[in-house]
Amino acid sequence: LPSLVFVRNFASNVIQNITVVGGGLMGSGIAQVAAQAGNSVTLVDVNDDLLKKTSQRIETSIQRVAKKVYKEKPEDGEKFITESLKKITYSTDIPASVTKADLVVEAIVEKMDIKHKLFSSIDKVAPEHTIFASNTSSLSITEIASVTNRKDRFGGLHFFNPVPVMKLLEVIRTNETSDETYQKMMAWGKAIGKVTITCKDTPGFVVNRLLVPILLEAIRMYERGDASARDIDIALKLGAGHPMGPLELADYVGLDTNKNIVDGWHAKFPDNPLFNPIDSLNKLVAEGKLGVKTGEGFYKYE
Ligand code: CAA
Ligand code: NAD
Repeated sequence: LPSLVFVRNFASNVIQNITVVGGGLMGSGIAQVAAQAGNSVTLVDVNDDLLKKTSQRIETSIQRVAKKVYKEKPEDGEKFITESLKKITYSTDIPASVTKADLVVEAIVEKMDIKHKLFSSIDKVAPEHTIFASNTSSLSITEIASVTNRKDRFGGLHFFNPVPVMKLLEVIRTNETSDETYQKMMAWGKAIGKVTITCKDTPGFVVNRLLVPILLEAIRMYERGDASARDIDIALKLGAGHPMGPLELADYVGLDTNKNIVDGWHAKFPDNPLFNPIDSLNKLVAEGKLGVKTGEGFYKYE
């Protein structure tokens, strides 16, 4: 009997059911790694066409993972793919998707008002124990959480693109995040195979506060004509050991996301010239050239 009690207590303390809101570049990867680790995952987006693309993206990516992990045992790889994909349910019904969630991870567009609208609507319907987390690149977690009545059960879980490959997870605690919530987020990060680091709720956390300025400075360098896009990228790859050059990486992250990050920081810190708007970035976004995801950004993609 004592062991049963232990099992029950243990189970109630562990994150098993997760809901990912937003099935784009990041949400699809987050859902995939959670499903691979055995979580039951509900993945929500605004329409079925987008969800179809999301499920295709996950299938392609999980095949790459299986090929690598089960190189010697392809049959086990097939089983891993089937079992993992079975763990994911797709939905367009946001309120219904959170009613059984232990954790909701938000990965929708990088705009405060849209994130506020989402969190205030699901706060009313999610169970009391549910932890809410945002995957925001640059916005304040405290400000996102401000529209909810669960500020102690709110934190940041910041993943990196491509999620199935990048090992890091930044776990952000605000002044109001409880110890229990923080410990659960850290334990979940480890359970899904990530290396976790902790950062206070500061703009860009650790990685983006250092990385985004490099991307922005590279775009300005390109705009001034100091060097060609390709040469700037080659320089950082071969001269500084970066896996991708900054313009390639800006395309890979999404130019809309980069623009939302710099616009948000400029509004908040108007005196910091590092965050000034950049004409060439704004022009590409206005033309719908958002990088790899639309087939064109600083470069063209097949
Ligand atoms: N899903 C699954 N596996 C993938 C994958 C995906 N989406 N993308 C790549 N892979 C795997 C490949 O299958 C390959 O596996 P093998 O080693 O078995 O061959 C491996 O990863 C390497 O891929 P590639 O050979 O295709 O290409 P690569 O060696 O150039 O690596 C990369 C690709 C991992 C993306 C690498 O270029 C890289 O690390 N780039 C930098 C990425 C980065 O900086 N990300 C952070 C962006 S900032 C951010 O995310 C935060 C934010 O808030 C904006
Ligand atoms: P994306 O544009 O690829 O995907 C966003 C998805 O959210 C879209 O499919 C969209 O239809 C959906 N969506 C928008 N509003 C919604 C709503 N109200 N309800 C449900 N779904 C909604 O964007 P992304 O690159 O995946 O970025 C998502 C978040 O993750 C942003 O906050 C971004 O800053 C952050 N982030 C991005 C990266 C990156 O490299 N792209 C890395 C880390 C964090």
